[in-house]
Amino acid sequence: MKSTAIANPNIAFIKYWGNRDDDLRLPVNGSFSMNLDGLATKTQVIFREDLAEDQLILNEKEEHGAGLARVSKILDEVRAAAGISFRAEVVSENNFPTGAGIASSAAAFAALALASSKAAGLEFDEPALSVLARHGSGSASRSIPGGFVEWQMGEDDKSSYAFSIAPADHWDLADCVAVVNTGHKETGSTQGHPLAATSPLQAARVADAPRRIKTCRDAILERDFEKFASIVEADSDIMHAVMMTSNPALFYWQPATLRVMDSVRAWRAEGLPVFYTIDAGPNVHVITLREKMDEVKAQLMALEGVKDVLTATVGGPAHLLTD
Ligand code: DP6
Repeated sequence: MKSTAIANPNIAFIKYWGNRDDDLRLPVNGSFSMNLDGLATKTQVIFREDLAEDQLILNEKEEHGAGLARVSKILDEVRAAAGISFRAEVVSENNFPTGAGIASSAAAFAALALASSKAAGLEFDEPALSVLARHGSGSASRSIPGGFVEWQMGEDDKSSYAFSIAPADHWDLADCVAVVNTGHKETGSTQGHPLAATSPLQAARVADAPRRIKTCRDAILERDFEKFASIVEADSDIMHAVMMTSNPALFYWQPATLRVMDSVRAWRAEGLPVFYTIDAGPNVHVITLREKMDEVKAQLMALEGVKDVLTATVGGPAHLLTD
């Protein structure tokens, strides 16, 4: 009753922001992402007869409270499906720094969904694993399949899952994450999603989502960098416009965030294949071609306010570790 899984975080090109059901994490729009290779969460789950409560050890530290409750919710679902009542020991480690603007919950819940279902003896197919991961963190649904991934909003719980539209080797892209602040963000995504509907701009963002999704899908399949760059930047800007106009307002951008955005746009105008996208934090994901990764990293490092740059290429699906 033991299993270990590895999953990558992902960066969204078309963002998930707002749910039609917060508890089930049923999104108001579909989204797109790519997995980030080299950055990973490894999670081991052991169901044990002798445990009275679930245990969570995250980066060598025992967690209680909300973090543990969120994990237990997924374990409860797995226990119900497998018809078992054993509590579990969950040991999870990230190889990337928390607070670096990379959503650790996506990799964490994808690895947990895979490891816990397997440890309980369940053979979930990819859509079922994606749904299970989604219940822990919406974006985790996209860290189950490999490469370039679409999360369809679906009609109900079962049909809201993610699938790969192209494998990791379809397009040699890289993500250079310009870290401008490593501090803990004030409002996390889980607290942010319910605020989306308080912005008068959210309805327009959602109404236009099918167009952005189609443009993004076409750009990826055609490897059309220019088309891809403009739709992804637009989608990120629209989400931040919603965040800034919700009640209470969420302002994630800092002066250095804007400096990176401006520089990226200028570099693209000069012919460098780069664009930005920003999640619920001040750090900037700068997407480029793999062959330009080192050059882009060096240029970002030279900007005032950029404290570090993490790099990743396109990652594969969540997978089991055979131990
Ligand atoms: C801005 O998946 O982190 O990164 O479901 O509450 O865990 P929870 O939220 P989460 O939200 C991600 C928001 C985003 C955009 C995206 O990744 O699509």
